[in-house]
Amino acid sequence: MAYIDWSERYSVSDKHLDSQHKGLFALINQLHEAILERRGRDFMVELFAELGKYVEQHFRDEEAHMRRISHAELPRHQADHKYFIDAIGELRARCEEGDGNVGVDTIDFLTHWLIDHIMGRDRKYIPDSQAA
Ligand SMILES: [Fe+2]
Repeated sequence: MAYIDWSERYSVSDKHLDSQHKGLFALINQLHEAILERRGRDFMVELFAELGKYVEQHFRDEEAHMRRISHAELPRHQADHKYFIDAIGELRARCEEGDGNVGVDTIDFLTHWLIDHIMGRDRKYIPDSQAA
């Protein structure tokens, strides 16, 4: 059973960005399985590499989308993305130092940040005509 499921209530009314968000949910589920299976540091190192690449592309695409629709909250939104990148950088550094709690702290941070960010920020760029 998945730890966290994407659902329509997280939709930002854009197929590409929704599919990238689904990819982030999938990464969280992989991390959850890895924690249950007590996989070691090698998995976490790979996860941070994958997450870093994935998020870089996603934030770039999302910010481009907001620029295209001239969304007024872009600077505030970019600051949120930067906060995420910095927080992941700190978790990644802890992983490299061999911190054994980093998996649990990472899944906790990712889950809360992603849901709060999608619901509180991302969904604001849905055109009014498509908002639920
Ligand atoms: Fe975003």
